[in-house]
Amino acid sequence: MVDELYSGDLVAKLLGIMEGLYHLEDLDALLDQVLLQARRLTAADAGSIYLKAHQVLHFSYVHNDTLFSPAGSHKYVYASHTLPLDNQSLAGYVALTGESLIIDDAYRIPPALPFTFNKSFDEKSGYRTRSLLAVPLKTSREKIVGVLEVINALGEQGEVVPFTEKDRLILNYFAANAGAAIERARLTREVILRMIKMCELRDPEETGAHANRVGAYAAEIYHRWSLNQGLPPEEIKINQDLLRIAAMLHDVGKIAISDLILKKPTGLDLEEFTVMKFHTILGARLFQNPDSDLDVMSGEIALNHHERWDGSGYPGKIEDICRDQIRLGEGKRGEEIPIGARIVALADVYDALGTKRSYKDPLPEAEILEHIREQTGRHFDPEVVRAFLEIYDVIVAIKEKYQEEPPTSLFCSLTL
Ligand SMILES: [Fe+2]
Ligand SMILES: [Fe+2]
Repeated sequence: MVDELYSGDLVAKLLGIMEGLYHLEDLDALLDQVLLQARRLTAADAGSIYLKAHQVLHFSYVHNDTLFSPAGSHKYVYASHTLPLDNQSLAGYVALTGESLIIDDAYRIPPALPFTFNKSFDEKSGYRTRSLLAVPLKTSREKIVGVLEVINALGEQGEVVPFTEKDRLILNYFAANAGAAIERARLTREVILRMIKMCELRDPEETGAHANRVGAYAAEIYHRWSLNQGLPPEEIKINQDLLRIAAMLHDVGKIAISDLILKKPTGLDLEEFTVMKFHTILGARLFQNPDSDLDVMSGEIALNHHERWDGSGYPGKIEDICRDQIRLGEGKRGEEIPIGARIVALADVYDALGTKRSYKDPLPEAEILEHIREQTGRHFDPEVVRAFLEIYDVIVAIKEKYQEEPPTSLFCSLTL
């Protein structure tokens, strides 16, 4: 279809974009890229993605060049709201019917049409949605996984113009491929969350919500840190993608630590604490494929997330983490500690201090920030703390998005 209508250049461009999508591992990195490319293909000022889960649409990603600059705050990305699958919103209608929609003015939809425009985002943000193109995100088996919306097509002078039938064809073609990539990234995230669920059975403190928060904090702190360092955008994108997943898995090594230690309600004695320190090494042993960038980063973070900037952390320098007999080494310090681990060290401590645990209440936010400031240059890398404080509004948005859920028991009582 596309070949008939458009030049070979466009087809080659589309194929190049699709290929790029398959190199991304993390769901959020993928959604960001899908939206960026969809907006480029249609010259749209803004856009959002909704993903379908449990018969509801979850607002999952947003871009808006008028409201937020690319280097500005990412806090809107972590906004969370849901839409029912019905005609009360354009996205709901598209997800329900699988049809794409072109609207020239969202505020002038004839009442006879079977859908309405949901103005809530415009009302909250002061943005004015005019032209809009919404297409279903489908897998290769035609399953609808969500809805891609691009908003306010821009003409040559930056004025808002309607989307065209050509835009609709291109975006439908793009969305069919993006849907498959999104399905794959969602599966990856689900497998990771199940690994974390297995850890949670052993250590009730390590929840999926904690992992989601630490992953998101780490990805956002890295983004700001790398901009501050002046790293090239391509390198930032690749590392941020891997870092979120790797950060989520920081404590998987706890699965190999005895229940007697993990579930001990009171503090650990010296010997128990030494055993506990080995969760870093045991976790890193799970990621031993040097050809996988994700394994390399996950291994670095699992191994080093308890190292401290001043060298007083653990497990320290160890020649071969796969040897049978291992001793903890002299603590790594400063930039000897990989940047991903320096970032996760801060994200993990910030989250743990603010979370209720069986043996303690959460600390008030002001005290947590005080602790972080006081530990800057001791426990934490000063440049990482700077990046964290610069994006503190995003940190708060993430905290609100991933709240603790009541634990679901995987056990049942058996009657024999
Ligand atoms: Fe840990
Ligand atoms: Fe943790």
